This record gives sequence, structure tokens and C-alpha cells, in this order.
Amino acid sequence: MSKYKILFQISGSIAAYKSAYLISKLVQNDFDVQTVASRSALKFIGRATLEGLTSKPVLTDQFQTGHMMAHINLIKWADMIVLAPASANTINKMANGIADNLITSLFLAYNFDKPYLIAPAMNSNMYEHPATQSSIKKLKSWGINILPVQSGYLACGDYGSGKMLEPDMIFEHIIASINKLKTGQDKKVLITSGATREKIDDVRFITNISTGKTASTIANHLIKQGISVIFLHSQGSILPESNCELIEFVSYADLKQKLFNLIESEDFDFVIHCAAVSDYFVEKIELGNSFINTGELLKIPSKFDSVKLYLAPTEKLIDKIKSLSRNKKVKLVSFKFSGAQKQEDSLSETLELFRKAGSDFVVLNHIKDRNKNIQNNFLIIDKEQKTISASTAEELAQQLTKIILQGL
Ligand SMILES: Cc1cc2nc3c(=O)[nH]c(=O)nc-3n(C[C@H](O)[C@H](O)[C@H](O)COP(=O)(O)O)c2cc1C
Repeated sequence: MSKYKILFQISGSIAAYKSAYLISKLVQNDFDVQTVASRSALKFIGRATLEGLTSKPVLTDQFQTGHMMAHINLIKWADMIVLAPASANTINKMANGIADNLITSLFLAYNFDKPYLIAPAMNSNMYEHPATQSSIKKLKSWGINILPVQSGYLACGDYGSGKMLEPDMIFEHIIASINKLKTGQDKKVLITSGATREKIDDVRFITNISTGKTASTIANHLIKQGISVIFLHSQGSILPESNCELIEFVSYADLKQKLFNLIESEDFDFVIHCAAVSDYFVEKIELGNSFINTGELLKIPSKFDSVKLYLAPTEKLIDKIKSLSRNKKVKLVSFKFSGAQKQEDSLSETLELFRKAGSDFVVLNHIKDRNKNIQNNFLIIDKEQKTISASTAEELAQQLTKIILQGL
């Protein structure tokens, strides 16, 4: 099989040195890499490094003898185009159809038939500048895959957003894009994860033992297969290592609002509702002989002999997901964490999730299979009661990936 061909472009940013590592990683993983560098990029990284890593001359000049049609030929040659780092200048030129160097000319010759991945890298002000933000928005709307930036220490000495995504992360995105091409599918999945926190006062809350481990393992797996994931997670829970859109929630009410907003405004192919949502919230508090409403006191004083919390049941979010979803064909995966004594009782607990919530799949797991707060032994059940077992979260993630890509 011929090697996968990557046109790797570098523009003028201090982060250019990080691209040498990424290019080396691509070459070591058997990619055929051709580099193109802007004139400014060559002030940050040497031709010798790039040529040494790829065994091919670096192209810079549109009018280079012997490479006069490079702006057309290279774009046809490549299976995927990467621009990392992408400077503010290059991004803004691309979004405005300017073609005054090889990188920007290649972009105008590109007909959007293969993945084009951009990793911006710049100072926060340059990144947040309205010109750059509107260019990024425009390029995204054309289908260009603009990777997120990171926040952190920037070369200019500032601390803020605009830092290029770490090369290992960019590598993962490249692999995910290839997997997406291989499966020929463009799936979008919403995963909820972690435990809700129900407020008692400003310093105390009721929560549960969910850590977000199972959901983040599933997310990592899906992302690596090229599936787009939005990860709606509780505060402080485990996050996926692979890159995806992260949205944080705190309480039941917060999760409800964010979850419903997402499913009403975006088309998801699957919703995997793994979050451990509180069944009750603190409605009122009895302190001695008087009642107060939750949140009325910053901190309940320690002087009381008895404090009673009155809990009221929350509405089941799972029951609303299908009916509120913009995509009426969305598939719903719900989780049942059972404490029942007998297997048949655990199984019958899942029936409600099919009947009432319209789940397409239920993942059954049991409290007795939780060891050091790590959950094992999952049973995936479909509407026809066909089952697949998975002994670890990893195996569960693999099975769910298969279901999403191929069906059960
Ligand atoms: C030391 C130094 C560091 C720079 N770092 C960045 C950067 O990280 N991101 C950026 O967009 N521009 C940066 N610039 C400015 C660009 O190099 C400049 O806008 C240049 O014209 C970009 O050219 P190009 O887009 O054709 O590569 C830097 C300039 C200097 C001198």
C-alpha cells in the first residue's frame, strides 16, 4: 500500500520548532511528508532540519525553477494538508483569498476535497483580534479543520490563549481525520459525564461517586476513530486526553440547561448519557425550629443540634433527550448503575429506560463490580434484548465505537 501523503506547511511563528518533532513523528509512522515553509517560517526553523527529517527539499518560493506549478501539483499530490503553526498573518490572508506566497496560493488551488488541518499559534491579542477571529470563523464555515489553541505561557512572556496545540495532540487529530476518511462517516456524539453537585449552602453539596472515568475512556476511543465528540462533564471529573469540545456543568439544573440547549440546537447521531445525575435536590433546610431555602445562607452555622435536609426528586433528564433532540433519528445510549440483589432484577430495571426514555441501548453495570472506584463488567443491551458484555471500560468503549460506526 502506498504511503499516506501529507503536505506539511509551516508559517512564521516561534512554535515552528515544535513542528520538527511532529514531522519526525509522522515520518516515523510511515507518512510521506512534503514540507512547505513561508519565508518567515524559515527565520524560525532551518531548511536543513526539515530536509533532513523528510529527505525532501523544503519548498518556499512559488517561482522556484523546476517547481513552477507546485501550487497546483502539490495540492493534487497530497492526501491531507496541515498548516502548523498557522500565523495570524497567514490565517487572515487565507480567509480573504489572498495568494501572495506558496502557502496561500496552495490554499486558493485547494478544492475542499481532502482534510485541511490548521493549528493556530500566536500571541493572545493576535488570536483574539476581531480580524483573526472572523477569519477563523470563515475558514471553519468552509470546512477547514481549525484546531483549538491552548492557554499557557506564551513566548512573548504573556500568559493567555493562542498557544499551539501540543504536537502529540495535532498528531492525534491527523490520525482521527484519516480514520474518518477510512470509515467514510462523519459522526457526531454527545457524551455526558461525571457527578452532579446539589447545593446545600455555598460550601457544602450532595454528590455521588462517579469520576467520569468510563465516559472519558469512551470519548478517547471515539475521537481516535475520527468521531466528533462534545463532552459535557461535571466539575473536577476526569477529562478525555484526546481533543474534543469540553463543556462543564455543576448541578442538576446546570446540566439540564446545557444538555437541552445542545440537543435542541445541534444534530447528534448518538447521545451517550453516562453522567450520574442526582435523583434528588435539596429543596429546603430545617434549622432548629425554622426553615430556610437552599442557598439562603452562605454557610449553615455549626450551632444547631439538628439540621434536616428536605430532598425533592429531580425530573429524569434521560426521558426528555429523544423528544427534545433536533435530530429525530438520534440514537440514545443510557446507563443503568444497579444495586439490585439479583441479575434479573437488574435487567428489569433497564426496561424503563427502553420504554419511557426510548433508549436504543442501555449499558447495565452493577455496584458490586466497582473496585477502588473503577467500574468493570458492563452489559450492553439493545431494544431486542440482544447483549454484548465488556469486562472493562476500554472494552466497552471499543464495543460502543463499533455500534456507532457499524450498528450492533
Ligand atoms: C520573534 C517573532 C515571533 C513571532 N511569533 C509569531 C507567532 O507566534 N504567531 C504569529 O502569528 N506571528 C508571529 N510573528 C509575526 C509573524 O512572523 C509575521 O506576522 C510574519 O509576517 C508572518 O509571515 P507568514 O504568515 O507568511 O509566515 C512573530 C515574529 C517574530 C519576530
